Amino acid sequence: MAVLGRLVAVAAICIAQLVSGSLGFRTSLTIKDFREQMMRVEQAKNTRAVGITRREDVNLTLLYPTRTISVPVDHFHNDSRYEPHSQDTFSLRYWFDPSHYQKGGPIIVLQSGETTGENRLPYLQKGIVAQLAEATGGLGVILEHRYYGESFPVSNLSTESLRFLTTDQALADMAYFAQHVEFPGLEHLDLTAPKNAYIAYGGSYAGAFVAFLRKLYPDVYWGAISSSGVTEAIYDYWQYYEAARLFAPQNCVTATQKLTHLVDNILLGGHATGDYVQRLKTTFGLGNLTRSDDFANALSFGIQGLQGTNWDPTLNDTAFGDYCNAVSTSDKLLYPAMATRRSEVQELIVAGGYEHELEELTGQMLNYIGYVDETVVQSCIAQNESQDACLTNFNSAYYHQDDISQQWRSWPYQYCTEWGFLQTGSGVPADQLPLVSRLIDLNYASAVCKEAFNIYTPSDVEAINKHGGFGISYPRLAIIDGQRDPWRAATPHAIGLPPRASTTSEPFLLIEGGVHHWDENGLFPNETKPGLPPQPVADAQREEVAFVKEWMVEWSLNSRSVAENDEDETRTWGDL
Ligand SMILES: *[C@@H]1O[C@H](CO)[C@@H](O)[C@H](O)[C@H]1NC(C)=O
Ligand SMILES: *[C@@H]1O[C@H](CO)[C@@H](O)[C@H](O)[C@H]1NC(C)=O
Ligand SMILES: *[C@@H]1O[C@H](CO)[C@@H](O)[C@H](O)[C@H]1NC(C)=O
Ligand SMILES: *[C@@H]1O[C@H](CO)[C@@H](O)[C@H](O)[C@H]1NC(C)=O
Ligand SMILES: *[C@@H]1O[C@H](CO)[C@@H](O)[C@H](O)[C@H]1NC(C)=O
Ligand SMILES: *[C@@H]1O[C@H](CO)[C@@H](O)[C@H](O)[C@H]1NC(C)=O
Ligand SMILES: *[C@@H]1O[C@H](CO)[C@@H](O)[C@H](O)[C@H]1NC(C)=O
Repeated sequence: MAVLGRLVAVAAICIAQLVSGSLGFRTSLTIKDFREQMMRVEQAKNTRAVGITRREDVNLTLLYPTRTISVPVDHFHNDSRYEPHSQDTFSLRYWFDPSHYQKGGPIIVLQSGETTGENRLPYLQKGIVAQLAEATGGLGVILEHRYYGESFPVSNLSTESLRFLTTDQALADMAYFAQHVEFPGLEHLDLTAPKNAYIAYGGSYAGAFVAFLRKLYPDVYWGAISSSGVTEAIYDYWQYYEAARLFAPQNCVTATQKLTHLVDNILLGGHATGDYVQRLKTTFGLGNLTRSDDFANALSFGIQGLQGTNWDPTLNDTAFGDYCNAVSTSDKLLYPAMATRRSEVQELIVAGGYEHELEELTGQMLNYIGYVDETVVQSCIAQNESQDACLTNFNSAYYHQDDISQQWRSWPYQYCTEWGFLQTGSGVPADQLPLVSRLIDLNYASAVCKEAFNIYTPSDVEAINKHGGFGISYPRLAIIDGQRDPWRAATPHAIGLPPRASTTSEPFLLIEGGVHHWDENGLFPNETKPGLPPQPVADAQREEVAFVKEWMVEWSLNSRSVAENDEDETRTWGDL
């Protein structure tokens, strides 16, 4: 019964992640993450749950049928890094909603980024795209990114075939889309740019992406909203955990720092004698896990949960709260089965150099072990896998798979080549206690780069940061961020940067209490309640509506003056 209960709990976690889409933008992915991602792709196919982010939602691809546009594989025949060049085209998927459209309204294109576009359809139905379209008489669009979902320009994912997966090529796709699209059913209207006002929206990677798009293609996209846009690429992104350190419940932070420190003291040998490393692993139920860095990584999943929290309870990942509750609780045994490990835990705390806090840490560590047991150890058992098979990040055979079904390859290829953002514990300054083990270092986080793509050099962050990095700014480019977002440290709202004034042309908004692109998802009016969405989110969305309306006023004035100039010319010609 207990085992069944646990299995149900593990399955429930998987389903919760599947329906909540809580697994957002992440880097430093391990084989475990890739396998879970592939499992979700499979599950989505089998359960026919694509595009469904909540249990009660309908199949959104019935509301918004999948469309495609033919796009060049290679936009840059002058650039040797794409050799051998390609003359081919491929089908890029998109979805649109014409229901709010009125003549002269904007075309609002949400770049779906490093995932299947189907995951973004809720934003077309009731998120930010729907809100902007409704307020402006706009046409909402979700545009898939090349090499994600079903928009693959190549027939396999070998490193050579991945050469067309650059931010520059994908940006050119989004410009090409605006210049060439013919919306089925609306063929009688020319809805291309620059005849129409195109407004881009993106969150996270896609947020940085649309900021660059606005700068690179100012005549194609009239405006852009960059939400949680990670415009500054950083190779060793240890700052990822700074949001948790600064904004998570402080007892959770302090406990995590101390427990991580004592674990590291043992793993890194500082205070260790004898077989403490093995005893530590065994006490955590992970005695069969060979590598200490894999072990350290397996202890870090809880603190990673902050990013998945959302103001909408049906999208919220509560794992972070469960984790924090476990490690913060010292006076109560939350997982009674762990009681038998008490004396061993106390010996380990002493070995890890925390004898002076033995009392408080014993309870916290037993609850930490219970949390790891429930969320990690039991899930490997449920999968009937050895702990190494379940948790190691080093498996060459896995990394070498590169047929077209290995979709996990696309995003690591992008961060190994360009974006970096390896989330380490090792990078944390020596005078600060990290929230994840210092064994999680660049070597560990870049295993996929070496093994899957044969890339041994740091990613070329300059390919990204040439667009402006922290300092990016442009007329009609809005920068929206979350106060508590782990990605804030890679945005123009990073703590310590000079403040900026927010203007209608260059809105600069920080959502108080917000985490990762909290303005992107929304509710139907009949689903809102007092405090839902929370005021800071409602305010941000209202401001976005307001400034996009202003941008459209500017557009009308501008197109009127263009039209008048045209008339002048006509008259001139007429006079001749
Ligand atoms: C949703 O509808 C589309 C179009 O009819 C279909 O291809 C797809 O399999 C459906 N998905 C689900 C989850 O039912
Ligand atoms: C290729 O052409 C594009 C567009 O004209 C230009 O922006 C880019 O700098 C060129 N690249 C190279 C490598 O010459
Ligand atoms: C992958 O695709 C490329 C280009 O189409 C082709 O040359 C190569 O042989 C393919 N590799 C495999 C293993 O099929
Ligand atoms: C650890 O390995 C031993 C020996 O192979 C095996 O009997 C045991 O079931 C394993 N434990 C776990 C939790 O995987
Ligand atoms: C979301 O989950 C977190 C814990 O992970 C919790 O603190 C927060 O109150 C939850 N928010 C909502 C709206 O359910
Ligand atoms: C678990 O794995 C073992 C060895 O790989 C296999 O013999 C056994 O049938 C599996 N059990 C289940 C329930 O899948
Ligand atoms: C809420 O509003 C949406 C959109 O107008 C509608 O589709 C849905 O049926 C409504 N739900 C309820 C419970 O009235």
